[in-house]
Parts: sequence; C-alpha cells; structure tokens
Amino acid sequence: MSTLDDKSPVVAIVMGSKSDLETMKRTQAILDELGIACEARVYSAHRTPDALDAYLATLEERGIKIVIAAAGGAAHLAGVIASKVSLPVLGVPMQAWALDGLDSLLSTVQMPKGVPVATFAIGSPGAVNAGLFAARILALSDPAVRGKLDDHRRKQAEDVLADQLD
Ligand code: RP5
Repeated sequence: MSTLDDKSPVVAIVMGSKSDLETMKRTQAILDELGIACEARVYSAHRTPDALDAYLATLEERGIKIVIAAAGGAAHLAGVIASKVSLPVLGVPMQAWALDGLDSLLSTVQMPKGVPVATFAIGSPGAVNAGLFAARILALSDPAVRGKLDDHRRKQAEDVLADQLD
C-alpha cells in the first residue's frame, strides 16, 4: 500500500517551542501538498526531556518513518532525538531570537561522529526542503510518492519559466 493511501502519520515534526510553529507550517504544507500524512508536536530537549523520551518511544510502533526536528538557539533537539531513535532525523535550524539563526545552524549541523542529523537551511527554506527531502526518502520505496514529487518539480520549473520578463 502506498504511503499516500494511509492516513496514519509517517512523518513526525517535532519542534522545541510553539514559537517555531509559524516556520514549521511550511513543512506541514509541503507534506500536505504531496499527500503525506504527518503529525506535529511540541517537545523540548531541555524543558520537557522526560515527555520527549516517552513520545519518542512510541514512534516506530506507530509507523513513523522519518522525524523532522526544529529548534532554535542552542538547538540540541535534533541531536537528542537522533540519539534515541534509529529513524532518519532531519534538523531544521530556527532563525530564533539572536545571531540570525547561526547559533541554531551550528548547534544542529555540528553533530560529533556517531549520531547523524541531516541538517537543512535556516528557517523557512529549510522547513520546506526538509519536507521535500522526507518525501524523497519515502519515494525510494513508494512509486506514488515519487510521482507526486516529479509533478511538484515539473510544476516548480514551469512556474519559474512563466516568470520571464519582457
Ligand atoms: C528553542 O528555543 C525552541 O526551539 C525555540 O526556537 C527557542 C525559543 O523558544 P521560546 O522561548 O520562544 O519558547 O528551544
């Protein structure tokens, strides 16, 4: 059965704070557009470590295949999640409140060897690309997702080409 026929979530979006939601709505939107069911939750690695642990323990048994983790500042959420689960973890650094998100980027991308986090661009571009990358992972074993992704790429190219100036 294709991921697209199954309405139970296969992607978990976890964010460190509700203040990350505005950015992470972009991830939800692209996954929705591709017909991929996701869930979004707020758990913080430092404010709610025990609740985060309990949530992560449910992921695989519920059929979640990919985790997208968004955090800002000393952004250790993606790394902590990757230390607890064997699923692919895609990290999205939030622009947050200081340093234009460079702090979030470095905290997410500079994982010491042994626990990988695939890290995306700061803020909205990263939020969109993490969703698209999750779709690409699912497309490896799901031709229907692959078809949706190909359509999306074709439409994007058409939109750019339609933007020609006189
Ligand atoms: C991080 O701290 C969150 O991911 C958020 O990006 C940042 C600020 O959180 P709030 O103080 O707005 O809740 O944990």
